[in-house]
Amino acid sequence: MILIDGKKIALELREELKEEVSKLKLKYNKVPGLTVILIGEDPPSQIYVRNKEKSANEVGLKSEVIRYPDSVEEKTVLDKIDELNKDESVSGILVQLPLPKHIDKQKVIETILPSKDVDGFHPMNVGNLSSGYESSVPCTPLGCYLLIKKIEPNLNGKKAVVVGRSNLNGKPMTQLLLKENCTVTITHSKTKDLKGECLKGDIIVAAVGIPELVKGDWVKKDAIVIDVGINKTDKGIVGDIAFDEVSKIAKALTPVPGGVGPMTIACLLKNTIECFKRSQK
Ligand code: GUN
Repeated sequence: MILIDGKKIALELREELKEEVSKLKLKYNKVPGLTVILIGEDPPSQIYVRNKEKSANEVGLKSEVIRYPDSVEEKTVLDKIDELNKDESVSGILVQLPLPKHIDKQKVIETILPSKDVDGFHPMNVGNLSSGYESSVPCTPLGCYLLIKKIEPNLNGKKAVVVGRSNLNGKPMTQLLLKENCTVTITHSKTKDLKGECLKGDIIVAAVGIPELVKGDWVKKDAIVIDVGINKTDKGIVGDIAFDEVSKIAKALTPVPGGVGPMTIACLLKNTIECFKRSQK
Protein backbone atom coordinates (compact mmCIF):
# COMPACT_ATOMS: atom_id res chain seq x y z
CA MET A 1 0.00 0.00 0.00
CA ILE A 2 1.22 3.46 -0.87
CA LEU A 3 0.79 5.87 2.01
CA ILE A 4 0.26 9.15 0.21
CA ASP A 5 2.58 11.60 1.93
CA GLY A 6 0.71 14.88 1.56
CA LYS A 7 3.23 16.67 3.72
CA LYS A 8 6.10 15.78 1.41
CA ILE A 9 4.16 16.40 -1.81
CA ALA A 10 2.96 19.77 -0.46
CA LEU A 11 6.53 20.68 0.46
CA GLU A 12 7.68 19.88 -3.09
CA LEU A 13 4.84 21.99 -4.49
CA ARG A 14 5.77 24.89 -2.21
CA GLU A 15 9.40 24.63 -3.38
CA GLU A 16 8.23 24.89 -6.99
CA LEU A 17 5.98 27.83 -6.12
CA LYS A 18 8.83 29.57 -4.32
CA GLU A 19 10.95 29.34 -7.44
CA GLU A 20 8.08 30.63 -9.54
CA VAL A 21 7.59 33.62 -7.23
CA SER A 22 11.31 34.50 -7.59
CA LYS A 23 10.97 34.44 -11.37
CA LEU A 24 7.82 36.58 -11.26
CA LYS A 25 9.61 39.04 -9.02
CA LEU A 26 12.41 39.39 -11.57
CA LYS A 27 9.95 39.73 -14.44
CA TYR A 28 7.45 42.15 -12.91
CA ASN A 29 9.42 43.66 -10.04
CA LYS A 30 6.62 42.70 -7.65
CA VAL A 31 5.26 39.57 -5.99
CA PRO A 32 1.73 38.14 -5.71
CA GLY A 33 -0.17 39.29 -2.62
CA LEU A 34 -2.62 37.28 -0.52
CA THR A 35 -5.00 38.96 1.92
CA VAL A 36 -6.95 36.83 4.39
CA ILE A 37 -9.90 38.21 6.34
CA LEU A 38 -10.49 36.43 9.65
CA ILE A 39 -13.60 37.19 11.68
CA GLY A 40 -14.10 36.04 15.26
CA GLU A 41 -12.32 33.55 17.48
CA ASP A 42 -13.15 30.12 16.00
CA PRO A 43 -10.10 28.13 17.17
CA PRO A 44 -9.59 25.96 14.06
CA SER A 45 -9.87 29.06 11.86
CA GLN A 46 -7.15 30.78 13.92
CA ILE A 47 -4.83 27.83 13.30
CA TYR A 48 -5.64 27.58 9.58
CA VAL A 49 -5.07 31.28 9.05
CA ARG A 50 -1.78 31.25 10.95
CA ASN A 51 -0.59 28.35 8.76
CA LYS A 52 -1.74 30.09 5.59
CA GLU A 53 0.16 33.25 6.54
CA LYS A 54 3.31 31.32 7.44
CA SER A 55 3.30 29.32 4.20
CA ALA A 56 2.59 32.41 2.10
CA ASN A 57 5.59 34.16 3.60
CA GLU A 58 7.80 31.11 3.10
CA VAL A 59 7.19 31.01 -0.65
CA GLY A 60 7.79 34.76 -0.89
CA LEU A 61 4.26 36.07 -1.32
CA LYS A 62 3.19 39.35 0.20
CA SER A 63 0.78 38.26 2.89
CA GLU A 64 -1.64 40.15 5.10
CA VAL A 65 -4.26 39.06 7.63
CA ILE A 66 -7.09 41.42 8.52
CA ARG A 67 -8.81 40.46 11.78
CA TYR A 68 -12.26 41.54 12.95
CA PRO A 69 -14.15 40.71 16.15
CA ASP A 70 -17.26 38.50 15.99
CA SER A 71 -19.39 41.61 16.36
CA VAL A 72 -18.13 43.32 13.19
CA GLU A 73 -20.87 44.70 10.94
CA GLU A 74 -21.38 43.07 7.58
CA LYS A 75 -20.96 46.41 5.82
CA THR A 76 -17.49 46.89 7.32
CA VAL A 77 -16.40 43.58 5.82
CA LEU A 78 -18.00 44.26 2.43
CA ASP A 79 -16.40 47.73 2.29
CA LYS A 80 -13.01 46.21 3.09
CA ILE A 81 -13.44 43.65 0.30
CA ASP A 82 -14.31 46.49 -2.11
CA GLU A 83 -11.13 48.26 -1.08
CA LEU A 84 -9.05 45.09 -1.58
CA ASN A 85 -10.70 44.49 -4.97
CA LYS A 86 -9.31 47.85 -6.10
CA ASP A 87 -5.87 47.37 -4.55
CA GLU A 88 -3.43 46.30 -7.25
CA SER A 89 -0.98 44.84 -4.73
CA VAL A 90 -3.63 42.29 -3.67
CA SER A 91 -3.78 39.33 -6.07
CA GLY A 92 -5.97 37.08 -3.95
CA ILE A 93 -8.60 37.59 -1.24
CA LEU A 94 -9.77 34.85 1.12
CA VAL A 95 -12.45 35.27 3.77
CA GLN A 96 -12.02 32.45 6.27
CA LEU A 97 -15.19 30.44 6.90
CA PRO A 98 -17.27 29.87 8.97
CA LEU A 99 -18.63 33.40 9.43
CA PRO A 100 -20.72 34.71 12.34
CA LYS A 101 -24.46 34.20 11.74
CA HIS A 102 -25.30 37.86 11.15
CA ILE A 103 -22.97 38.00 8.14
CA ASP A 104 -24.35 36.72 4.84
CA LYS A 105 -21.77 34.28 3.51
CA GLN A 106 -23.05 34.36 -0.05
CA LYS A 107 -22.98 38.17 -0.13
CA VAL A 108 -19.38 38.13 1.11
CA ILE A 109 -18.33 35.57 -1.49
CA GLU A 110 -20.05 37.45 -4.31
CA THR A 111 -18.41 40.74 -3.31
CA ILE A 112 -14.93 39.34 -3.95
CA LEU A 113 -13.85 39.98 -7.54
CA PRO A 114 -13.90 36.60 -9.34
CA SER A 115 -10.37 37.32 -10.56
CA LYS A 116 -9.18 37.60 -6.92
CA ASP A 117 -11.26 34.73 -5.54
CA VAL A 118 -8.48 32.33 -4.51
CA ASP A 119 -11.03 29.99 -2.89
CA GLY A 120 -12.91 29.50 -6.16
CA PHE A 121 -16.21 30.00 -4.31
CA HIS A 122 -17.62 32.86 -6.43
CA PRO A 123 -20.51 31.68 -8.66
CA MET A 124 -18.54 32.90 -11.67
CA ASN A 125 -15.66 30.56 -10.81
CA VAL A 126 -18.03 27.73 -9.94
CA GLY A 127 -19.70 28.15 -13.34
CA ASN A 128 -16.41 28.43 -15.20
CA LEU A 129 -15.12 25.26 -13.55
CA SER A 130 -18.24 23.31 -14.46
CA SER A 131 -18.10 24.62 -18.04
CA GLY A 132 -14.45 23.64 -18.33
CA TYR A 133 -13.21 27.24 -18.63
CA GLU A 134 -10.30 28.83 -16.80
CA SER A 135 -11.18 29.43 -13.16
CA SER A 136 -9.90 29.38 -9.61
CA VAL A 137 -10.50 25.89 -8.21
CA PRO A 138 -11.30 25.36 -4.49
CA CYS A 139 -8.05 24.52 -2.71
CA THR A 140 -8.98 21.24 -1.00
CA PRO A 141 -10.36 19.43 -4.05
CA LEU A 142 -7.47 20.80 -6.10
CA GLY A 143 -5.08 19.31 -3.54
CA CYS A 144 -6.91 15.95 -3.69
CA TYR A 145 -6.75 16.04 -7.47
CA LEU A 146 -2.98 16.60 -7.46
CA LEU A 147 -2.50 13.70 -5.04
CA ILE A 148 -4.60 11.37 -7.19
CA LYS A 149 -2.65 12.40 -10.30
CA LYS A 150 0.64 11.62 -8.51
CA ILE A 151 -0.51 8.04 -8.04
CA GLU A 152 -2.33 7.63 -11.36
CA PRO A 153 -1.51 10.20 -14.07
CA ASN A 154 -4.04 8.73 -16.52
CA LEU A 155 -7.57 8.75 -15.09
CA ASN A 156 -9.32 8.09 -18.40
CA GLY A 157 -12.43 5.99 -17.86
CA LYS A 158 -11.78 5.35 -14.17
CA LYS A 159 -14.79 5.04 -11.89
CA ALA A 160 -14.62 7.67 -9.18
CA VAL A 161 -16.93 7.87 -6.18
CA VAL A 162 -17.17 11.15 -4.31
CA VAL A 163 -18.72 10.86 -0.86
CA GLY A 164 -20.23 14.23 0.06
CA ARG A 165 -21.79 16.94 -2.11
CA SER A 166 -20.64 20.18 -0.49
CA ASN A 167 -19.81 23.28 -2.51
CA LEU A 168 -16.45 23.32 -0.75
CA ASN A 169 -15.36 19.78 -1.65
CA GLY A 170 -17.70 17.25 -3.22
CA LYS A 171 -19.06 19.28 -6.13
CA PRO A 172 -15.77 20.84 -7.30
CA MET A 173 -14.03 17.47 -6.80
CA THR A 174 -16.57 15.95 -9.16
CA GLN A 175 -15.85 18.59 -11.81
CA LEU A 176 -12.10 17.98 -11.63
CA LEU A 177 -12.54 14.21 -12.00
CA LEU A 178 -15.00 14.68 -14.88
CA LYS A 179 -12.46 16.84 -16.68
CA GLU A 180 -10.06 13.89 -16.42
CA ASN A 181 -12.65 11.64 -18.10
CA CYS A 182 -13.59 9.74 -14.97
CA THR A 183 -17.09 8.34 -14.61
CA VAL A 184 -18.12 10.05 -11.40
CA THR A 185 -20.78 9.08 -8.88
CA ILE A 186 -21.64 11.70 -6.25
CA THR A 187 -22.97 10.13 -3.08
CA HIS A 188 -24.36 11.77 0.06
CA SER A 189 -26.35 11.21 3.23
CA LYS A 190 -29.48 10.13 1.33
CA THR A 191 -27.70 7.67 -0.97
CA LYS A 192 -29.40 4.28 -0.64
CA ASP A 193 -26.56 1.78 -0.86
CA LEU A 194 -23.49 3.81 0.01
CA LYS A 195 -21.34 0.74 0.57
CA GLY A 196 -22.35 -0.69 -2.80
CA GLU A 197 -21.58 2.60 -4.56
CA CYS A 198 -18.18 2.92 -2.88
CA LEU A 199 -17.29 -0.64 -3.88
CA LYS A 200 -17.52 0.38 -7.56
CA GLY A 201 -14.86 3.08 -7.22
CA ASP A 202 -11.36 2.86 -8.64
CA ILE A 203 -11.03 6.14 -6.80
CA ILE A 204 -12.86 7.19 -3.64
CA VAL A 205 -12.79 10.72 -2.25
CA ALA A 206 -14.52 10.98 1.13
CA ALA A 207 -15.54 14.45 2.29
CA VAL A 208 -18.59 14.06 4.53
CA GLY A 209 -17.32 14.69 8.05
CA ILE A 210 -18.42 11.35 9.51
CA PRO A 211 -15.62 9.65 11.48
CA GLU A 212 -14.37 6.44 9.81
CA LEU A 213 -17.52 6.05 7.70
CA VAL A 214 -15.86 4.19 4.83
CA LYS A 215 -14.93 0.70 6.04
CA GLY A 216 -12.49 -1.85 4.65
CA ASP A 217 -15.26 -3.91 3.00
CA TRP A 218 -16.57 -0.78 1.23
CA VAL A 219 -13.42 -0.46 -0.85
CA LYS A 220 -12.48 -2.25 -4.05
CA LYS A 221 -9.07 -3.95 -4.08
CA ASP A 222 -6.36 -1.53 -5.26
CA ALA A 223 -8.56 1.57 -5.19
CA ILE A 224 -7.02 5.00 -4.63
CA VAL A 225 -8.60 6.44 -1.49
CA ILE A 226 -8.47 10.10 -0.51
CA ASP A 227 -9.65 11.19 2.93
CA VAL A 228 -10.73 14.82 3.30
CA GLY A 229 -12.29 14.32 6.75
CA ILE A 230 -10.96 15.97 9.89
CA ASN A 231 -13.13 14.69 12.76
CA LYS A 232 -12.47 15.20 16.45
CA THR A 233 -13.20 12.01 18.40
CA ASP A 234 -12.32 10.52 21.79
CA LYS A 235 -9.34 8.81 20.19
CA GLY A 236 -8.11 12.01 18.57
CA ILE A 237 -8.43 13.38 15.05
CA VAL A 238 -9.65 10.82 12.52
CA GLY A 239 -10.76 11.03 8.89
CA ASP A 240 -13.87 9.79 7.08
CA ILE A 241 -12.02 6.58 6.17
CA ALA A 242 -11.44 3.67 8.57
CA PHE A 243 -7.71 3.91 8.01
CA ASP A 244 -6.45 0.59 9.43
CA GLU A 245 -9.01 -1.53 7.58
CA VAL A 246 -8.83 0.34 4.30
CA SER A 247 -5.03 0.37 4.29
CA LYS A 248 -5.15 -3.43 3.85
CA ILE A 249 -7.29 -3.15 0.68
CA ALA A 250 -6.40 0.09 -1.09
CA LYS A 251 -3.54 0.65 -3.51
CA ALA A 252 -2.95 4.12 -2.08
CA LEU A 253 -4.43 6.01 0.85
CA THR A 254 -3.99 9.43 2.45
CA PRO A 255 -3.42 9.60 6.21
CA VAL A 256 -5.20 12.07 8.52
CA PRO A 257 -3.43 14.25 9.42
CA GLY A 258 -0.63 14.63 6.88
CA GLY A 259 -2.60 13.80 3.73
CA VAL A 260 -4.94 16.32 2.15
CA GLY A 261 -4.49 19.07 4.78
CA PRO A 262 -1.01 20.27 3.76
CA MET A 263 -2.04 20.24 0.10
CA THR A 264 -4.94 22.62 0.76
CA ILE A 265 -2.62 25.39 1.89
CA ALA A 266 -0.09 24.78 -0.89
CA CYS A 267 -2.96 25.00 -3.41
CA LEU A 268 -4.09 28.30 -1.91
CA LEU A 269 -0.62 29.68 -2.64
CA LYS A 270 -0.79 28.19 -6.13
CA ASN A 271 -4.15 29.85 -6.73
CA THR A 272 -2.80 33.21 -5.53
CA ILE A 273 0.08 32.95 -8.00
CA GLU A 274 -2.33 32.00 -10.80
CA CYS A 275 -4.54 35.03 -10.02
CA PHE A 276 -1.45 37.26 -10.11
CA LYS A 277 -0.32 35.85 -13.46
CA ARG A 278 -3.76 36.31 -15.01
CA SER A 279 -3.86 39.90 -13.74
CA GLN A 280 -0.58 40.66 -15.51
CA LYS A 281 -1.80 39.48 -18.91
N1 GUN B 1 -12.74 27.12 6.18
C1 GUN B 1 -12.42 25.81 6.07
N2 GUN B 1 -11.91 25.55 4.85
C2 GUN B 1 -11.90 26.70 4.16
C3 GUN B 1 -11.49 27.08 2.85
O1 GUN B 1 -11.03 26.27 2.04
N3 GUN B 1 -11.64 28.39 2.54
C4 GUN B 1 -12.16 29.29 3.39
N4 GUN B 1 -12.28 30.56 2.97
N5 GUN B 1 -12.55 28.98 4.61
C5 GUN B 1 -12.42 27.70 5.00
